[in-house]
Amino acid sequence: MTRRETIARLRCIESDCLVIYPTDRRLYTCQSCGGLLDVIYDFNLPSGAGEMKSIFLERKTAQTDLERSGVWRFRELLPFVRDTSRVVTLAEGNTPLYTSARSADYAGLDGLRFKHQGMNPTGSFKDNGMTTGVTQAIELGASAVACASTGNTSASMAAYAARANLRALVFIPADQIAYGKLSQSLEYGATVVEIEGNFDDAMRIVRELAEETELYLLNSINPFRLEGQKAIAIEMMEQCGWQAPDWIVLPGGNLGNSSAFGKALHEMAELGLINRIPRLAIIQAEGASPLYELLASPDRRAFKPFAHPQTLATAIKIGNPISWKKALRALEWTNGVVERVTEQEIADAKAIIGRDGIGCEPASAATLAGIRLLVASGVISPADDVIAVLTGNLLKDPDYTIRYHTEDLSLDARAIKGSFRNRPARVAADREEIKRLLHL
Ligand code: F0G
Repeated sequence: MTRRETIARLRCIESDCLVIYPTDRRLYTCQSCGGLLDVIYDFNLPSGAGEMKSIFLERKTAQTDLERSGVWRFRELLPFVRDTSRVVTLAEGNTPLYTSARSADYAGLDGLRFKHQGMNPTGSFKDNGMTTGVTQAIELGASAVACASTGNTSASMAAYAARANLRALVFIPADQIAYGKLSQSLEYGATVVEIEGNFDDAMRIVRELAEETELYLLNSINPFRLEGQKAIAIEMMEQCGWQAPDWIVLPGGNLGNSSAFGKALHEMAELGLINRIPRLAIIQAEGASPLYELLASPDRRAFKPFAHPQTLATAIKIGNPISWKKALRALEWTNGVVERVTEQEIADAKAIIGRDGIGCEPASAATLAGIRLLVASGVISPADDVIAVLTGNLLKDPDYTIRYHTEDLSLDARAIKGSFRNRPARVAADREEIKRLLHL
């Protein structure tokens, strides 16, 4: 950079603390008060907002993965890496924004678009955060990285760690992660440890290990991960011609992504890249909805974790989300709302998204289910411009999908109806019989 360099720092998010640290320290929380940390910048864009937008777009057609990446082509908005030759990338991002007529109709909207993060290299939005998180691991000279995961984080971290020649340790709740994701972590060479407990147990243990050992923690408590995930919102605004929609709808689990969206929208507005901030709607599964409960309670600081979170949408089966305070801030910045949905609503919404020829894993479908409720209750108007983020690929959890379509899906002995089922038909290898069956 020829101009004055933008300086990146870490800062505690607690308004009565705000202690600042340099980015070359391996920190996840504030040493003074234990608060979460933000990466903050004294932004110094090389050009005005209009010209920056042209530069971002132009890079998309470049030949190198670094230039083309849907994260690094926006690097002036996450300028914490001094030497971009160290960036670890799989050309992530640049995911499609699909229109979806059936889903819109199902939700009671005139139109609806899906930003499909399942189209990333390892099949989820985590790749946006891992490219920055693993790059920071390299900047810090780490030799091993670790995460707790319900599937997507582990697959993504394993892939990026493999690219960077780092040892990868993955902690998953035993027997609770989808096979599609476990297979990826194994194939990318990570060491997989199955913990006899749930995600929150795995998270607690890996946090303790990261304090006591040299392991670099790559869950979303790591503020550098969230910097990469900001690019999902930035790219979405670019795809909208920098005209913000009325609503952005996200599933909420550990609440890192909601936090990243809040920060991105806030910064883009401050930098004059957008002239209004869309409202965020965070959707949780009923059995794992501590943020919903918090917002429904009179005291917004009295956060109560769910000790036994329950949902078949394993990606959001989280009772004690680490980033709840950042998510609360995101809701304040965006005048956002939180909704919760049942297992049946998630399952049916997922089948509808499939019928649009798009498809997603269960947590992603919570968005459509939530939009439907928010339209019914008048919070979202039918004519509103709404974009939902599908966070993961349909192929994450084929077992769930097949069970839904064969009406074999249940949670705690409560059966989920295959309202939009599509059963395979079995028939003898006989042409006449097949013609009869198919009315040909
Ligand atoms: N959607 C998908 C597909 C996810 O994998 C996750 C989180 C979320 C939504 C929730 O996002 O935590 O930022 O609110 N998956 C983590 C994992 C827990 O281990 O893969 P969040």
